[in-house]
Amino acid sequence: TDFQLDGYDNFMHKEMHEQPEAIRRALLGRLDERFSTARLGGINLDARALRAVRSVKFLGCGSAYYAGQIGANLVEELARLPADAEPASEFRYRNPVIDGDTLYVAVSQSGETADTLAAVRELQRKGGQVIGVVNVVGSAIARECGHGVLLHSGPEVSVASTKAVTSMSFSFALLALLLGRVRDLSVANGTRLVNGLAALPELLAEILATEDQIAKVADRFHEARGMFFIGRVRCWPAAREGAQKLKEISYVHAEAYQASELKHGPLALIDETMPSVVLVPDDELLAKNVGTIEQIKARGGPVIAVTNADLPAGLVDAEIRVPHATPELDPILLTIPLQLFAYHLALRLGRDIDKPRNLAKSVTVE
Ligand code: AGP
Repeated sequence: TDFQLDGYDNFMHKEMHEQPEAIRRALLGRLDERFSTARLGGINLDARALRAVRSVKFLGCGSAYYAGQIGANLVEELARLPADAEPASEFRYRNPVIDGDTLYVAVSQSGETADTLAAVRELQRKGGQVIGVVNVVGSAIARECGHGVLLHSGPEVSVASTKAVTSMSFSFALLALLLGRVRDLSVANGTRLVNGLAALPELLAEILATEDQIAKVADRFHEARGMFFIGRVRCWPAAREGAQKLKEISYVHAEAYQASELKHGPLALIDETMPSVVLVPDDELLAKNVGTIEQIKARGGPVIAVTNADLPAGLVDAEIRVPHATPELDPILLTIPLQLFAYHLALRLGRDIDKPRNLAKSVTVE
């Protein structure tokens, strides 16, 4: 049941393991196999209204913002629409230009985050079109937006968000598919995505079943004073989420960086004491990511690869394997081992997993 540990040591552990089920709920009734698209009745936009959308902007705070970045990449990739994400906390204070043809997406697990709510109100005051992607039914952001997507993750207790964040990215894939299919995403590609989305719960379960191996890797690196999380393009927001999780619950400094940007500065920090967690999806940028790992290795930096590709033997110090997914959905999949990695590292350090110091579950103050 929702507010009980059901045999788990803490809520974060329980909630990570609830992810396949949470995704199954987020999926229910939302895949349209017949037309190879998604159904999102709650957003209240018909095909004509969806076609009128010229760009998409995701707004949220913290992990909801990183999920929004995954969403923006998916919208650009599948619908070929300009899309981006911004922290709602920045947006609200910079007197943003509101564009009538943009679809704004307010993202929040709790639906009560003060900065996100303020961004929604600012949008509405200026006549912007905003939908909410929210977990808590009846929350302030859900009510204020009126229309949107409910995440159906079930209550999330742990301060470090896991299942809600996964459901967010998942819902954005549905939105991107829908926006794509009223434009130029082919039936074949639509079908490929529909099948990929339907397969995700099972793939998530496969990753969760490898928890012991991930715990061993975390154990090996638990003495590190800091770590890099490296991702490129699709997996860059996933790297940011991985760094966020580690910081929140282990208090180990973590910095996320784009693979391509390392050589423009941060490479100076690499030595034997600075491990890098590198996300290496088996996609068209594989060779580039292998090159990045070689650059880190050449400076003596330990590398932990999170990958579904076949890496050259002996290239990395530790490998966390994930199954193959539809490439566009890799960021959702590759985030899961990062949660487990942060969790086991924090556990090893004896941290208070569910209630990390200085943090609140929902930030209702400004
Ligand atoms: C996630 O692990 C964090 N605790 C935090 O960044 C969180 O995602 C953020 O505060 C937004 O919360 P919300 O989704 O409830 O709006």
